[in-house]
Amino acid sequence: MVNYEQVIQLALERGFYFPSCGIYPDAPAGFWEYGPSGVSLKNKFIELWRRELVRRDRMWEIDGSQIMSQSVFLASGHLSSFADPVVKCQKCGSIFRADKMIAEVCSVVIPESAELEAFDRTIAEKNIRCPKCKGALDGAKKFNMMFRVGIGPQDEPAYLRPETCQSIFVDFPRLYKTMRGRLPIGVAQIGKSFRNEISPRQSLLRLREFYQAEIEVFCNPGRLDEIDGFSEVEGTVLNIMADDTIRPMTCREAYERRTVPNKLVAYYLGLLAEFYKKTGIDTSRSRFRKLGEKEKAFYASVAFDFEVETATGWLELVACNYRSDYDLTSHGKVSKEKFEVLDDNAKVLPHVFELSMGIDRSLYTILEHSLREDKENERVVLSLKPYLAPVHVGVLSLVKKDGLAEKTEEIFSRMRTRYDAFLDHSGAIGRRYRRLDEVGAPFAVTIDHQTLQDGTVTVRSRDSMAQERVSTADLDSYISRSVAFP
Ligand code: GLY
Repeated sequence: MVNYEQVIQLALERGFYFPSCGIYPDAPAGFWEYGPSGVSLKNKFIELWRRELVRRDRMWEIDGSQIMSQSVFLASGHLSSFADPVVKCQKCGSIFRADKMIAEVCSVVIPESAELEAFDRTIAEKNIRCPKCKGALDGAKKFNMMFRVGIGPQDEPAYLRPETCQSIFVDFPRLYKTMRGRLPIGVAQIGKSFRNEISPRQSLLRLREFYQAEIEVFCNPGRLDEIDGFSEVEGTVLNIMADDTIRPMTCREAYERRTVPNKLVAYYLGLLAEFYKKTGIDTSRSRFRKLGEKEKAFYASVAFDFEVETATGWLELVACNYRSDYDLTSHGKVSKEKFEVLDDNAKVLPHVFELSMGIDRSLYTILEHSLREDKENERVVLSLKPYLAPVHVGVLSLVKKDGLAEKTEEIFSRMRTRYDAFLDHSGAIGRRYRRLDEVGAPFAVTIDHQTLQDGTVTVRSRDSMAQERVSTADLDSYISRSVAFP
C-alpha cells in the first residue's frame, strides 16, 4: 500500500496533475490542473465510462453551459439550501467550517444540515475558542457555496453550476421530444462543476473546480421494478453497508431483500460496480453506504454513496441519489414548463435516480490503487489497466548510433497515430524503463542491432519485466490486443 504523499509525488513528477497558477503567490487553494499524463488517463477513464454506462444503457449525452441563470438555482433549491455552516473568529478573522472544526476540537459530531443554534450551543458548552489564536467565535452563519458571476455590463446575477445535472433537468422536455424517448431513459453529462469550498484540501480530493460525470435516469415511479436488462447484472455483487456492517450481496438479493428500494436502483448500482471493476480500483475495498436522514443532500429521498478505501480513509466517488420528482416539480413550478410525459398512454411526471461521479477523486483512487513499490527491482510501478495507461508503449533505441535512431523513429511513426506512443532515445536504458513504469506504460519496445538484421524488436512488459522478441510485422497486433478496451 502506498500513501497519499507518494501519489502526489508521482503526480507532480510524471505530469499527472499539479496546482493551478503555481508561479504566483496568490494562487487560490482548491484549483488543480491536469498535465499530459493526467489528461490522457482522464480521457481514457471517460471513454470507459461512456462504453460501460452511457452506450451500454443507450443513454443520451449532452454538454451544457457551466454558467446558468439565477432562476435555475432558485428553482433547484441551491440558492436557499446549498450552504455550509461557518463560524468566524472575532479576533483574527479566520473562518472555519463549523461542523468540521467542532468535530476536530472536541469530537462532537453535528450534521452539517443541523440548525445553526446546534453549533452555537456546542461552542458555548465546550467553551470552544478559535483554533488559531484562541479568540472568541461569532455565532454560526450559513455560507452559500455557489460562485456568483455577473453577466454583461448590467452585472445580471448568474452562477457557475454546482452540479452538472441541472442542465439535464432544465433540458429534459426538449430532449424527450426531440430524441423521441421512452422511460426509463438515462441522460448523461461530463463537465466541470464549481463549489466555493470553505476548506479545499488534498489536491484532487476536495476541489473548488472539478469534473463530474453525471447520469440522471428518468423513470416512471409506478414501474420501478420493470427493468429491461436486469438479468445482465442480477449476479453482480454489491458491497452494501448498513448499520455499520458491509454485506456483500448480488443485485438480485439486494432487490429481493429490499436493501435497495427497487429493481431500477439495483440495476444501476450493478452497472456502476461493474464499471469500477474495470478501472483497476480494488473493489474489494469498496462499499455502497446508505446515508442517514441527516446526511443526505436536500434533494435526495434515498441515497447511497459509493465509497472506496484509500490511504486518506474512505472516499466518496459517486453519490447515488433517488431524487424522486423533486427537481422536475421545482423547475415546473418556477418556469411553468410542462415536465410530464406519456408512458404507456398515461401522463406521468418522471422520477429521477442519479449516479453522480467525481472524476478527479476516481482518478486519484485509480493512481493510488495501481501504484506499488517494487523494492526487489528498485522501481516504482504504476500497474494501470493497459487501456487506461497514459502511454501505451514506449519506443526506445538501445543506442542512437549505427542507424538505430532512424529505425526507431520509423517504427515510432507507424505507431504514433494508433497508440499513445512515447519516443525516447536519451539516457541509460534502465532509467528509461523506470520512467515508463512510473507513468504506467504497459509495454516498452526496444530497437537494437538485431532489429536491423532480422526485423525483430524486444517487447518488455511493465508488470513482469519479462522481455520477448517480436517481429515488427506482428507488433501492431501484439500491442492492439493488449491495450484494447474490454
Ligand atoms: N448531483 C449531485 C451532486 O453533485 O452531488
